[in-house]
Amino acid sequence: MMKCIYIASLFLPLVLAGEVLVGVGKDETTGKKGLGFDPSSVNPRAGDTIVFEFRSGSHSVVQSSFTNPCAGIGSGFNSGVQTVNDSFGVDDPGLPTVSLVVNDTQPLWFFDQAGGLCTKGAVLSVNPSTTQSDAAFKANAANAVVASAPPSASDTATPSGSGSGSGSASSPAASQTPASGADRLVTGGAYGISILAALWALL
Ligand SMILES: *[C@@H]1O[C@H](CO)[C@@H](O)[C@H](O)[C@H]1NC(C)=O
Ligand SMILES: *[C@@H]1O[C@H](CO)[C@@H](O)[C@H](O)[C@H]1NC(C)=O
Repeated sequence: MMKCIYIASLFLPLVLAGEVLVGVGKDETTGKKGLGFDPSSVNPRAGDTIVFEFRSGSHSVVQSSFTNPCAGIGSGFNSGVQTVNDSFGVDDPGLPTVSLVVNDTQPLWFFDQAGGLCTKGAVLSVNPSTTQSDAAFKANAANAVVASAPPSASDTATPSGSGSGSGSASSPAASQTPASGADRLVTGGAYGISILAALWALL
């Protein structure tokens, strides 16, 4: 019986808190290396952990806002810039990951700052709602004026100046761990519970 409890307790954290894996620099429609996030909209529960897994090139996951998808918010999450050698295949083991615990089910918004292409769709919705939908967020991104874009001759508008000041100083909370096979196995509470049930039956 002690053995049962001991083994069960090893699995308990995995059961209570699910993981949601989100590829960065991976095209969600082709499954290949590419633009944005795979998937680009997720619905974690309170207490779940989003595991960002980075593909080739330089990418960073930065928290933004629904109305201004392509500009970081100063106090928000910032994964820091993750650079991965092109020799890594799209789903190779050993890709770097950065995790974020989701504390409630309020909507959260992110973009790939280092990878650029926010206006082309390199954005992520977390728990979008009916009033703040994934589609509306993507439309806001497509229409966003990106401050860092070089002004063209016909564009003399002054940049808003937002988007800076979201440096790595705001990212100490991000924990970085190498991806492991175990991470991939447990992608949700339901699966965790079935593992636990199977263990229980065995012992
Ligand atoms: C990328 O990996 C290849 C093959 O392992 C290696 O030859 C090359 O030096 C690496 N490039 C960088 C920038 O680390
Ligand atoms: C959840 O809370 C932890 C601990 O306070 C914090 O590090 C993390 O950034 C929070 N998550 C979000 C999405 O704000």
